Amino acid sequence: MRSSFVVFLGVALTASATKLFDSNLAYSSPFVGFSEFARDTRAIQKRHIEHIKRSTVGTEGFSDEHYPTFYGADFSNAPFLWNGGVNFTHRVASGDPFDTSVLLWTRAFPINGTPDQSVPVCVSFNVFDNPDLKGKPVDSGEAFTSWDVDFTVKVEATGLKAESSYWYQFADCTNPSSTSVVGATKTLPHPNTPAQQVNGGKPLTFAVFSCSQFQNGYFNAYGVATHNTSAEFFVHLGDYIYESLGNGASIGRKVLGRELATIHDYRQRLGQYRTDVSLLDAHQAHPWITVWVSHNHTFTVYSSPDLSLLQDDHEVADQSWKAGTANSNDTASGCAFSPSGACFTDRKLAGVRAYHEWMPIRQVDVGDKLRIWRNFQFGKLLDLTMLDTRQYDRDITDLYYNTDINSIADFQNRSLMGAQQEKWFYNALSQSKARGAIWRVVGQQIVFTQLDEGGAFDVDAWDGYRANRNRVLDHIQNNKISNTLILSGDSHANWVSDLIHPNDTAHYNPATGDGSLAVEFAGTAVSSGSAFGNHITPQAADVISNVLVTDSLNADLQWSEGSYRGFFTLTLNTTHANATYWAMRNTSTANLDAFPSAEFIVKSGANKLSRPVAGGNVLAGVLKSNAKPVNVTSSAVAPSSSAVSSGSIISVTGTVSASESANTVVSVSESVSFSITGTVTAGLQPSTSG
Ligand SMILES: *[C@@H]1O[C@H](CO)[C@@H](O)[C@H](O)[C@H]1NC(C)=O
Ligand SMILES: *[C@@H]1O[C@H](CO)[C@@H](O)[C@H](O)[C@H]1NC(C)=O
Ligand SMILES: *[C@@H]1O[C@H](CO)[C@@H](O)[C@H](O)[C@H]1NC(C)=O
Ligand SMILES: *[C@@H]1O[C@H](CO)[C@@H](O)[C@H](O)[C@H]1NC(C)=O
Ligand SMILES: *[C@@H]1O[C@H](CO)[C@@H](O)[C@H](O)[C@H]1NC(C)=O
Ligand SMILES: *[C@@H]1O[C@H](CO)[C@@H](O)[C@H](O)[C@H]1NC(C)=O
Ligand SMILES: *[C@@H]1O[C@H](CO)[C@@H](O)[C@H](O)[C@H]1NC(C)=O
Ligand SMILES: *[C@@H]1O[C@H](CO)[C@@H](O)[C@H](O)[C@H]1NC(C)=O
Ligand SMILES: *[C@@H]1O[C@H](CO)[C@@H](O)[C@H](O)[C@H]1NC(C)=O
Ligand SMILES: *[C@@H]1O[C@H](CO)[C@@H](O)[C@H](O)[C@H]1NC(C)=O
Repeated sequence: MRSSFVVFLGVALTASATKLFDSNLAYSSPFVGFSEFARDTRAIQKRHIEHIKRSTVGTEGFSDEHYPTFYGADFSNAPFLWNGGVNFTHRVASGDPFDTSVLLWTRAFPINGTPDQSVPVCVSFNVFDNPDLKGKPVDSGEAFTSWDVDFTVKVEATGLKAESSYWYQFADCTNPSSTSVVGATKTLPHPNTPAQQVNGGKPLTFAVFSCSQFQNGYFNAYGVATHNTSAEFFVHLGDYIYESLGNGASIGRKVLGRELATIHDYRQRLGQYRTDVSLLDAHQAHPWITVWVSHNHTFTVYSSPDLSLLQDDHEVADQSWKAGTANSNDTASGCAFSPSGACFTDRKLAGVRAYHEWMPIRQVDVGDKLRIWRNFQFGKLLDLTMLDTRQYDRDITDLYYNTDINSIADFQNRSLMGAQQEKWFYNALSQSKARGAIWRVVGQQIVFTQLDEGGAFDVDAWDGYRANRNRVLDHIQNNKISNTLILSGDSHANWVSDLIHPNDTAHYNPATGDGSLAVEFAGTAVSSGSAFGNHITPQAADVISNVLVTDSLNADLQWSEGSYRGFFTLTLNTTHANATYWAMRNTSTANLDAFPSAEFIVKSGANKLSRPVAGGNVLAGVLKSNAKPVNVTSSAVAPSSSAVSSGSIISVTGTVSASESANTVVSVSESVSFSITGTVTAGLQPSTSG
């Protein structure tokens, strides 16, 4: 009898009885190494057995804990698995590819009512080397899911070939003809693949996203990247979901539930976001590499009368740092203060757990609770180093009541990343150079370069951690690390910069780029409201951009654009990096209407943007090289409401003056005490159509 178990199962009896639960990595969310936090599959297995015992007549003496697992293999008689039908409600996804493996994801929701929580749903998966799923699968397996993990399924496909395309499909074990859609994914090149051979010698393209707020717009950016670019790896820099509510009824995007606090809240939100067709298409078509962000960041100087549009509440909660958020310190009073009544720790745990259940992300260090910083080697072409500049051991940020972060931003003993991650990051850069990788691409959440936003800095970004930023730049400079490209999200606007030590105009020439150490590509939001004002017109946004790129404190800022929602692609070959920014024409409906607004080249070894920057010509935003002289005066100018669309905000008082256009004033709404009066000449007259 025992030997037949093996035959039916394909699982040796020596294997753990919990194997089919353990194959689903969602159970180990979020902390594999901390059973008190992860789902205890041993206990779930026991619960399953108890259920069978309770509901089985005539199995006195039944004691074999492998029994349900055995039944899980011989489906001719499997009363203890869910066999009422499965709905793959959120299609499929893949992520965190390595050279021999990749994570596959789906959700297998029982049709016609949920089973008793003790009854698992069994899902099988098959991976093929062709889109028609012909021939023998290159990998396959089975896994259980259940109520405990929101019926999510996350398995690792292994034994794959490097740099190969794969197609995969899930099925209901009890009814194999009931299948999910077919997903496509790809493995990485072997770390030692020569740079010129990576991707068969063709340039490799990433699509880079951040900040998708459901109620503020359709996720068209994901769809354009999927259907209209050659991007093969999708990188998300955070704010994949938002915890806040907010009324999207006018565009048919009303958010379900409430402000997120419990595991149910987070799951429901993730599930609702994952109904956007463009997002579903993008997950189905390509592997993703993601990091989270979590804070309620209203770009410090730009504040809005309608803050709900701008809140970056994100995957966990507002302005989070290692021991609290703005509205819930990790204390009893913090718990009481939280609008949802949940303590920060519980909330963070819920947010992180749901994220791990729903995202195809690996847990890189089973002993390290919140670690998502990790490195991907794309042959010798590049290292993609993903940082966590938000949740992991971060020192105190601007929590609104302690707004004097500026005065401590230079403290050497403050770290944005935490000592352990900082050390790891510097090592990762050095090792990447040592192993001969051409490019070092750093994916992280927040804007890196110094950004004077009109007399104030966003101290919730790297500007609040200047000593830490200097350590990064020093490491790059002192170790002669070339070809570092920093990718950033979070700010809801586009910023492209050479990178220098802040204010270092002695060694840096903004016209030529000489003296630059690296380059930053910061991308705008997929749909979250612009930091310059939600739905601000391109013309009105350009007035602000013009002020910002001509600000002497923003010496290395070469392009600013604040109107369009979108994403950018980064294409790398051995000699060139090409960042192409995509602007969505309209995110109030689901569509693929977009145009490339600007294209930037970085040549290997140059460590600066190629001149003329963006070829000297952009279709949106303002290049430093093309900016109009700005006459900054201290005189206040009466705001006019005509320049921007209703409900939007703008934070700069800009007068479009004298010389060529009529005086037009961009309205002001500013909570931080600040104003700029910028006199912008010619060609930047704000539209009054708004
Ligand atoms: C399956 O899930 C989708 C997405 O939630 C839903 O639209 C559909 O009605 C479900 N089908 C069944 C049979 O439950
Ligand atoms: C986000 O920040 C805004 C502005 O400070 C505040 O009004 C709001 O309550 C915050 N939201 C959360 C969820 O903390
Ligand atoms: C959080 O802690 C700080 C410092 O003790 C205190 O000033 C602040 O009022 C607390 N905030 C909340 C929301 O409890
Ligand atoms: C951090 O550095 C500042 C400035 O040097 C100093 O005043 C402060 O006491 C230090 N804090 C700790 C915890 O060492
Ligand atoms: C750079 O400029 C900012 C803004 O004036 C200032 O706060 C900071 O101290 C300056 N940094 C250096 C290194 O001079
Ligand atoms: C890399 O791409 C650039 C275009 O961005 C092209 O000019 C260059 O020739 C390519 N380099 C190689 C080695 O193919
Ligand atoms: C940069 O990439 C874009 C988008 O793929 C492409 O249209 C453009 O030709 C590229 N530029 C160069 C110089 O290769
Ligand atoms: C976007 O499309 C909607 C629906 O067609 C339209 O009502 C709206 O005016 C458009 N918005 C812009 C900025 O063009
Ligand atoms: C993207 O492709 C679709 C067809 O798949 C087309 O309708 C749409 O216009 C394209 N968008 C862009 C920006 O090229
Ligand atoms: C700047 O604006 C002020 C006040 O409008 C004006 O007096 C001054 O002449 C302007 N300077 C330049 C260089 O245009």
